[in-house]
Amino acid sequence: MKINLANIKKAKKILDKSDCVAVPTETVYGLAGNAYSDRAIRKIFRLKKRPKYNPLIVHYSNLEDLKKDCKVNKNFFKLYKKFSPGPITYILSLKKGSKISKLVTNHKNSLAVRFPKHPVIKNLLKELEYPLAAPSANISSRLSSVSKLDVIEDFGKKIKFILDGGKSKIGIESTIIDLRNKPKILRLGGLDVSSIQKLLNKKIIIKTEAGKITSPGQLKLHYSPDIPIRLNIKIAKKNEAFILIKRRKKNQSNYFFLSKNGNLKEAAKNLYSTLREIKEKKYKSIAVIKIPNKGLGKTINDRLKRASKFR
Ligand code: TXA
Ligand code: MG
Repeated sequence: MKINLANIKKAKKILDKSDCVAVPTETVYGLAGNAYSDRAIRKIFRLKKRPKYNPLIVHYSNLEDLKKDCKVNKNFFKLYKKFSPGPITYILSLKKGSKISKLVTNHKNSLAVRFPKHPVIKNLLKELEYPLAAPSANISSRLSSVSKLDVIEDFGKKIKFILDGGKSKIGIESTIIDLRNKPKILRLGGLDVSSIQKLLNKKIIIKTEAGKITSPGQLKLHYSPDIPIRLNIKIAKKNEAFILIKRRKKNQSNYFFLSKNGNLKEAAKNLYSTLREIKEKKYKSIAVIKIPNKGLGKTINDRLKRASKFR
């Protein structure tokens, strides 16, 4: 992808003034602000209508900068070497002298950190003297944005500038792993848990279900298209949008395919854009065929389950 340096400069100018810019990442678009600035963080929470207790992910371009803010450990290094930059977010302990705004973490001493891979945000981060706090660029509890147009749909002109980076390649949020003690997955995401398990060579705790909410991303209100969803459906009703995992020969206008041949990565990438399309077409209900519960299929099922509980 060709990088438009003038646009990067423009974004930097806005961010340097503690204002917000929407940025592309390989997972989903983010609503970014200077992680060291209370003013920028307040603005992010306000724009997103996000409850203050729900902490933000901070995005770094390199390890040296991260080490100024967080304590690192063995498991972190292992995962970092293999999977960063990429769709994985680490929960680490904050260092005492860290400059991260207290509002990012709601005064807690853990921080979620990620190294994004998308060239546009990578280039932007290199130009900045601070890391970027960025939640997904959507109004709280709505579908995440995977394109510039999605961001415009949610925020209109309320955001000064949106850096365009095309459609997000992974299309679903990062996998979150808490590394402060025994590694624990807090959110399923764009990185398959089994590849994390393989690398660390042990069974990893997955704690994304109800019970005590450790990561507010676990809230069932998340990722909702605001339309009732029925799961594991073999035959959809006539006027219902029907989401299928792969293309069918006999096509109908209410059929929506997540992938051509049942590829789960491709399906994850298309999930949010498909839900948005169905919403735009004003369907009143959605049926989803059974999605294989393996690899990124687990992440897809997680999102669909939460969305289906919305009503
Ligand atoms: O792929 C992604 O992760 C995208 C891109 C923009 O990086 N970001 C994203 O951010 O999905 P957001 O704010 O929509 O989701 C972040 C999740 C929230 O569920 C939040 O509760 C959790 O991370 N989180 C943030 N800090 C945390 C912490 N210190 N401990 C536990 N969970 C945390
Ligand atoms: Mg989000």
